[in-house]
Amino acid sequence: MATCIDINSISSSQLQELVSKAKDWVLMNGICIRPKKKFDENTAEIAPFSLLPSSFPEKEFQRAMGLQVSLNKLMHKVAYDYEFLSETLKTTTRTDNFTSKLFNIYHTVHSEGLAQKLSLGLMRSDYMLHSDENNIIKLVEINTIASGLAGIAANISDYYRFILIQLGEPGKTAQIPKNSSDVGFAHGFIMAWRTYSKKEAAILFVVEEIESNIFDHRTLEFKIREMDPEIKIIRRSIRNLTELSYMGLNGELFVNDVEIAVVYFRTAYQPEAYPSEREWNLRLLIERSQAIKCPSIQYQLAGTKKVQQQLAVDGVLERFIKDQNEIDRIREIFVGTFSLDSDENGASAVSRALNDPRKYVLKPQREGGGNNLFGDEVASKLREMNEVERSAYILMERIKPPKQKNYLIQAGKDIKLQDCVSELGIFGVTLGDDRKLILNTTCDYLLRSKPADADEGGMMTGIGAIDTTYLIN
Ligand SMILES: Nc1ncnc2c1ncn2[C@@H]1O[C@H](COP(=O)(O)OP(=O)(O)OP(=O)(O)O)[C@@H](O)[C@H]1O
Ligand SMILES: [Mg+2]
Repeated sequence: MATCIDINSISSSQLQELVSKAKDWVLMNGICIRPKKKFDENTAEIAPFSLLPSSFPEKEFQRAMGLQVSLNKLMHKVAYDYEFLSETLKTTTRTDNFTSKLFNIYHTVHSEGLAQKLSLGLMRSDYMLHSDENNIIKLVEINTIASGLAGIAANISDYYRFILIQLGEPGKTAQIPKNSSDVGFAHGFIMAWRTYSKKEAAILFVVEEIESNIFDHRTLEFKIREMDPEIKIIRRSIRNLTELSYMGLNGELFVNDVEIAVVYFRTAYQPEAYPSEREWNLRLLIERSQAIKCPSIQYQLAGTKKVQQQLAVDGVLERFIKDQNEIDRIREIFVGTFSLDSDENGASAVSRALNDPRKYVLKPQREGGGNNLFGDEVASKLREMNEVERSAYILMERIKPPKQKNYLIQAGKDIKLQDCVSELGIFGVTLGDDRKLILNTTCDYLLRSKPADADEGGMMTGIGAIDTTYLIN
């Protein structure tokens, strides 16, 4: 694909000056992380980022943006379909203890009747261009919990306009689409808080004890305050909350004496967040309360890999979406995704993968990166597991994104020109209950890039870098 400039034409002295300016620009504009190892509240370092924006076909970018309201609606309907979730997750909950614990909470609150029928969804659909199919977008997954970087993504598109101007190409800045992902997410919070309708109630961010990606959280927090200064926001860790939270007489959630209108989980998607029954009891308390959850337990379950595999099975989308054209447009973004249940379908998926493991990705029911298996590991894991164990996983065809040269800049690492591949994320916001959606919007995008030979490249894993789309024909 054509790049925004001829990257080879940048001389080494020009590069040095550019990188130095680029680092200062991102630091000055909050595109930062706090190093986990030497955690210190007085310090921030640059978040990993690419020197130049990566080219992305405009048609595919617009297709992804246009699809988000349909995907929002789909995930919302899935989340509110108890029969579908329980049937789909039946085999997974038998083998995967974490999913089973989450499902038990859902079962409990569903049988009791939801104290708060509304859910706030802050989602991110991730895509890669697939070079095997003319570089059309293919869905990696839809995140329904702790979808990161909507804060930082908005600011970094300005950086790429700045760098194009530094390179003497101001005319090219028009190829970088506007990005208001922070405003879009903040709007979702504000709508949820206003719907709860109690001026003194706060928004609670549930966070890790030590949070490296703090500036992404803070961008959202400060944006909400800027857009509606009446809203109070507090941040607490799960451990803290096990000591400080209780339920009021009418099912209100309190933290100390502060009533909570909206609970926003930026953790709680991984088993390590629940080291004992106390944390599970806290999650149950929150789900039983009147607070609006982002996500609610049913939204979290709708985002599992198993559910997303089931949605790709013929005829399943039809359960949730009536318009055939909309169904076709969604189906087009799926790559082959296969169940590994202990039945005929599972067995044929296993033999397909053993035949050519490099064509597939093996995914357990986990979020947060670093859990999927690629290449030879797919084969060895499939051989090692028995039929029951393998049903905790799904198998997905590997998407092959096109390569582009770029410099990835990261604190403490030398930079070099390398082949990179990119992943586009589209943010979506929903607010609704089992009957209707009162908010369903698309709120712009995120691009991340990683070295072409890396399997996974989450920004927080230190392999991927934040980037922006440079739209081309
Ligand atoms: N089918 C695929 N083809 C190619 N790469 C993939 C595929 N599925 C996943 N990946 C790579 O692995 C990464 C993580 O995958 P995925 O998003 O499914 O896992 P996750 O643990 O939920 O991650 P996250 O924390 O980003 O949500 C993706 O960002 C992508 O780089
Ligand atoms: Mg995910």
